[in-house]
This record gives sequence, C-alpha cells and structure tokens, in this order.
Amino acid sequence: MKRLIIDTDTASDDAVALLLALRHPATRVEAITVVAGNVPLAQAVTNALVTVDVAETYQPPVYIGASGPLAGDLRTAESVHGANGMGNIPLPDPSGKPAEGDAPEAIVAAARAAPGELTLVTLGPLTNVALALDLEPTLGTLLKEVYVMGGTSDHLGNITPSAEFNIWVDPVAARRVFHAGFRLTMVGWDISRKYAVIDDPTAERLRALGTRRARFAMDINRSLRQFCRDYTHIDGIDMPDPITVAVVIEPEMLTRSVERYVDVETEGEITRGATIVDYLGVLRREPNARVCLETDAERFLTLVFDLLGN
Ligand code: RIB
Ligand code: CA
Repeated sequence: MKRLIIDTDTASDDAVALLLALRHPATRVEAITVVAGNVPLAQAVTNALVTVDVAETYQPPVYIGASGPLAGDLRTAESVHGANGMGNIPLPDPSGKPAEGDAPEAIVAAARAAPGELTLVTLGPLTNVALALDLEPTLGTLLKEVYVMGGTSDHLGNITPSAEFNIWVDPVAARRVFHAGFRLTMVGWDISRKYAVIDDPTAERLRALGTRRARFAMDINRSLRQFCRDYTHIDGIDMPDPITVAVVIEPEMLTRSVERYVDVETEGEITRGATIVDYLGVLRREPNARVCLETDAERFLTLVFDLLGN
C-alpha cells in the first residue's frame, strides 16, 4: 500500500489528481494539506472537501495550510480554472470539515509517526512544505520521498516565459524544498503538456463512461479547456497534477528521467520562479532531484479511465 500525503491548492486538475489517489486500491491518502495558489485558501479547502465527497471512498483529514507565499503577495489563477477553481460549476456543500491543526504541523506529525513510510506529493506552491521544514529540518530523512508537480525540465514556463505557476507563486519556499535533502522527483509542466493531455474526443469518451467522477472531472475542467485553447494552445486539457499522482501510483509510467542539480531563481526580474536544471553539471553541484523527461501517455489515459470509470 502506497501511503501518501497530498499537498494541494485544489483547483480543477488537483481535484482529478485527488480522485485518482483516493480511488486507487493500492494507495492510501493519509492526509490532504491545503495551500493557497490557484484559488484563495478557503476556496481550495472547500474544493478539497467536495472532491473527497465525490470520490466516495474514505475521508482523509483535510488540513488548512498557508494563505500565501513566504514572501510577497499571493497571486491566484482564477483565469485558468474559473472563479471557484472548479470550472465555475455549482459545488455541493461538503459533508466534511477541515481537521484540527494546521498543514505544516500535520505534515511533520505524520512523517514523525511513520518514518520512511510516507510519500509527500505536492500539487501547488511549496509554502506548506517550507514551513514544515522550519518545524522539522530533518523532514528529508523522515519522508520516504517527495514528488513535486512544479517547474519545467525544458525551461518553458506557463505563467512567465520561464516559470511554472506553482514555483512562481512561492519561489523562496521552492528553493528551500529543492535544497532540503529530499529524495525529490520533479514532474514539470512540460510532462503535462507533452504526455498528459485529454483531447476533446477523449474527454467525450470519459464523459460517456457516465460515472459521477468522470462527469465531474470533465465539468470542473471546462475553464482549463478554454485556457488551453486561448493561451497555451494545447489541443485539449493538460493534466499536470494527475500525471504527477499517476507517476507515484504507477512508477513504470515514468519512462525517462535524469538525476540533476536543480535550483530555483528567486530574484530575477524576468526569470523569478524558474527551475534551472544543470544538465551539463557546470555548477559541479551534487544532483538534488530526479527530473522527469518523459511519461507513457497511453498508460496515463488507461489509468484515468480505469479509476474514474467506476
Ligand atoms: O502549473 C500547473 C500547476 O499550477 C498545477 O498544479 C495547477 O493546478 C496549478 O496549481
Ligand atoms: Ca495544483
């Protein structure tokens, strides 16, 4: 059984990722920790609680985390995911409530209670993880590994020419995480753009499965679909968070990666938030990340259909 903590700024692609993790028989989500990012914190918490209900499996504790980055102001992405982050569809009132305690403390407590057993999967800005490191600097030895949806392996950004949104929202936190000594896998936005796109015919086939989860997954991503049409020019809906969870669930889905030293630009006027991958080793620094370069697109869609289709 893979035991996960999922840190999320719960908007439409995060929600699909949560559904995959919650519905997979060999995965246990021990905790969901919420961070502001795509939408303000309160909305992200609501979206996480609603998604847990839609999964119709079990109710992991949902912890409230950081309402903004370590430095600077929060910048959200309602233009991408809709005003409520969920395609502006009307959402039911969640049946659950947030758990007592805050997200960074919950991450540390869970890691201390099960040393070496938990995989942390981050789907949003890394503020909660940086704050958890403040509480427990040895977190890197307590967590089994960390998968970060963030950055890009090809230096092509989605929020600026060189930065991916999750890193760009809180580059100071991201830099701390990349230098914390985690067994860290970086699943950049390039992977989503190249190997995890649900095109329109596939979206219709998913919807035709007729399950609550398949319909929900497509409905909440309709704003993202429009954003892809107008801004990123992707021929469908790209799924950065779901492919990150998919790689955790089925490691063989990751077909090519390299171990490299990665750093985060925190000051650049134009490049702030960029993840810089030192492919040639010119900085002579030890690798601190496994950088994903390719995943199996077919296998990803098969997993999505399997897990949302029942
Ligand atoms: O850049 C893509 C990432 O930013 C995804 O995690 C998406 O949900 C947003 O948080
Ligand atoms: Ca996200």
